[in-house]
Amino acid sequence: MVSDFRGESLNMSILISAMYLPICVLAGLGSVAAASHLYAASYGGSVYSLAPTSQHGSTEISVLSESRDCGNSPSWLMLDRAHEVLYCLNEGIGSSNGSITSFKTHTNGSLATIERLITPSGPVMSAIYSAPDVHTHDFLAVAHYETSTVTTHLLDRSSGHMKYLQTFTYSMSSPGPNAARQDAPHPHGVVVDPTGRYVLVPDLGADLVRIFSINPRTGRLEPKSPFVASPGSGPRHGVFWTPKGSNSTTSNVYFYLTHELSNEVSGFRVSYTAQGISLHQIFNGSSFGNDTAPAGSKVAEIKLSPNNNHLVVSNRLDNTFGPKNDSIAVFSCADAVGKHFRNVQFLGLFPAYGSSPRHFDISGSPDMVALALEESQSVGIARWSKLGGTPASLVAKKKLNGNIPAAIWA
Ligand SMILES: *[C@@H]1O[C@H](CO)[C@@H](O)[C@H](O)[C@H]1NC(C)=O
Ligand SMILES: *[C@@H]1O[C@H](CO)[C@@H](O)[C@H](O)[C@H]1NC(C)=O
Ligand SMILES: *[C@@H]1O[C@H](CO)[C@@H](O)[C@H](O)[C@H]1NC(C)=O
Ligand SMILES: *[C@@H]1O[C@H](CO)[C@@H](O)[C@H](O)[C@H]1NC(C)=O
Ligand SMILES: *[C@@H]1O[C@H](CO)[C@@H](O)[C@H](O)[C@H]1NC(C)=O
Repeated sequence: MVSDFRGESLNMSILISAMYLPICVLAGLGSVAAASHLYAASYGGSVYSLAPTSQHGSTEISVLSESRDCGNSPSWLMLDRAHEVLYCLNEGIGSSNGSITSFKTHTNGSLATIERLITPSGPVMSAIYSAPDVHTHDFLAVAHYETSTVTTHLLDRSSGHMKYLQTFTYSMSSPGPNAARQDAPHPHGVVVDPTGRYVLVPDLGADLVRIFSINPRTGRLEPKSPFVASPGSGPRHGVFWTPKGSNSTTSNVYFYLTHELSNEVSGFRVSYTAQGISLHQIFNGSSFGNDTAPAGSKVAEIKLSPNNNHLVVSNRLDNTFGPKNDSIAVFSCADAVGKHFRNVQFLGLFPAYGSSPRHFDISGSPDMVALALEESQSVGIARWSKLGGTPASLVAKKKLNGNIPAAIWA
C-alpha cells in the first residue's frame, strides 16, 4: 500500500549544483574523520550536505550537494539514520502553506527527493513516534508556529512516505504578557517522552507545554491537560533526561525546557500515574547564570551532553563574546556516572563562534558540535571538550547562502 503514502509529489527534476568531492579527499580527514558529514537547512531555500575536509592541517567545510526540494524556507532537519532518510520542514514563510520533504541520503552526500507533503504553514520542529499495536507504520508529529497548529502524519520509515493524519488548531482569547510575540498560540517544539507514550509540545505563544498521549492502537494523539508555564516566559524546546543505561523509562525521569522570552531554563521531575504524565518543577534559572540576559537575546536550543551529565543551551543575539559572537550556556545536571543532581548548576558561557546559534548537534559526533549560526549565515564546527563537557575551539566555519536555522550530523 505504498501508494497510500504518496503525498503531493512535485516534479523533482532538481538536484542543483551537485558538486561531489573525490572520495580521496574525504579519506584524509584525520581527527575529523569520525564526523563523516552534516546537513544544514537554509532560509535561502536550500538543504546542504556538507563535509569537513582537512588539508595541510587546517579544516574546511565543503559542499557535497545542495537541494532546493524542501521549499522556500527550510527550518528544521530530522535524520532517520536507521533508514537513511532525511526529513526537512519548510516553514513556508510568506506562503499559504508549509511542507515536509523526505530525502534518501547516501554516504556520498547526495540527497534524492522521495516526496513532498503540503502542510499548514509554519512547521518548525518534528519528531517520530510509534504506537505499540500499529506494526505497519510509524508517525510524525509537527509543531507549526505560524498557524497555531500541531499536525500528525503516518510515516513509512523504510520508504520515507508520509500521509496526513490529524490537525490540532489552538486559539487564545487575548494576547499573552509579551503581546508582540504572544499574539496567538505558537507551538514551537515536539518531544517524545522516554516511555514513547506521550508527546510534549512547548507553546511559546500560550505559555504552555501541551501534553498528548499516543493512542496505542491507532497512533492518534489525544490531548491531556497541559502544563502551565510561567506567564510571558515563552516555552520553546525541551529535552528529557534519564540515567544512561537505565532499564526503567518511568523512574528517575527529568524534563528540561528553554523559555525563549524570559531567557530561562527550567527543570522538572517527571512522574507517571494512571492519569498520565506530570511535571513537578525542581529548577529554574537564567541562561546567563547570575547575570541578567542582554537586551534582545533569545534562548533557543537545549540538548544533553554526550556524557548525559550536562545541559547545553544556545543563546542568540547576546554578543557575549563580542559583536556577532553569541554564547552557549552549560549547566550540570548529573554526575559522571549518571546520577541526577538535586541542584542543577550553571557552569558558564562558551563561544558560539557566530551570531544566533539557533540549533546545534553533538549527537552524531561526540567529539564535535555542529552549530547552525543563523544570522552569520554559516555552519560552524567546534571541538567538544570531553573533559569539561563543554564546547571548545572552533574547527571550521562555512558561509552559506541565507540564514541557517538548523544543522545536524549525518
Ligand atoms: C551517490 O550515490 C547515489 C546513490 O547510490 C548515486 O545515485 C549517485 O550517483 C552518487 N553520486 C556520485 C557523485 O557518486
Ligand atoms: C494549506 O493552507 C490552507 C490555508 O491556510 C489550509 O486551509 C490547508 O489545510 C493547507 N493545506 C494542507 C494540505 O495542510
Ligand atoms: C523562575 O522563578 C522566578 C522566581 O520565583 C519566577 O519569577 C519566574 O517566573 C520563574 N520562571 C520560570 C520559567 O519558571
Ligand atoms: C533493572 O535494573 C535494576 C537496578 O539496576 C536491577 O536490579 C534489575 O535486575 C534490572 N532489571 C532488568 C530486567 O534488567
Ligand atoms: C551565583 O550567585 C550565587 C549566590 O550569590 C553564588 O553562590 C554563585 O557562586 C554564583 N555563580 C556564579 C557562576 O557566579
